[in-house]
Amino acid sequence: MKRLVIATNNAHKLEEIRQMLGDMYEVQGLADIGCHDDIPETADTIEGNAEMKAQYVKLHYGLDCFSDDTGLEIDALNGEPGVHSARYGGVAHDSERNIDKVLRLMADVPMPKRTARFRTAIVLLQGDEQHLFEGKVEGHILTERHGTGGFGYDSIFQPVEGDGRTFAQMDASEKNAISHRGRATAQLVEFLKRQ
Ligand code: IMP
Repeated sequence: MKRLVIATNNAHKLEEIRQMLGDMYEVQGLADIGCHDDIPETADTIEGNAEMKAQYVKLHYGLDCFSDDTGLEIDALNGEPGVHSARYGGVAHDSERNIDKVLRLMADVPMPKRTARFRTAIVLLQGDEQHLFEGKVEGHILTERHGTGGFGYDSIFQPVEGDGRTFAQMDASEKNAISHRGRATAQLVEFLKRQ
């Protein structure tokens, strides 16, 4: 079986991609290859960060791999938090602070102008080749939290294609079907299955 590394330690991402790829690939995370490094993510675009993480694994471990990076782009905030989504509130991965900051900065923005999108970039390094896959979902930022599922900014993001619920009010399969990461991952899987 061919081996493919994801430059992540996120068990949820690993499980999701394992399910989508079936037994085509042995999918491994960073811990599985003995990598416990804090991989730099200092690029100023999500594409750049995805590439940086994948290149790190390729360089240090010589393995085919892919990496994803996601940002929430809010139009009224000139595309912020974007590449800074994980630590927008000042503390890495503190979603409550991140949401508080967004709601505070958007306090005076009326609903029609609260447009936003999640974008995910996936970079796959295979042999000497590099491939980019992208997924996005358009939506609105609500004025308060709705729902308790999901993670990150899910409770204030209402996708345009849905029925008015936020991502945090959907179950995982409903969210994956229309989400930024679900779409980017589906493209990657389609590409790998064609090989
Ligand atoms: P990452 O690149 O997947 O680590 O995502 C960066 C940050 O974007 C996360 O820390 C979350 O705050 C946010 N984010 C990514 N994906 C989602 C999502 O599906 N829903 C809500 N927030 C997300």
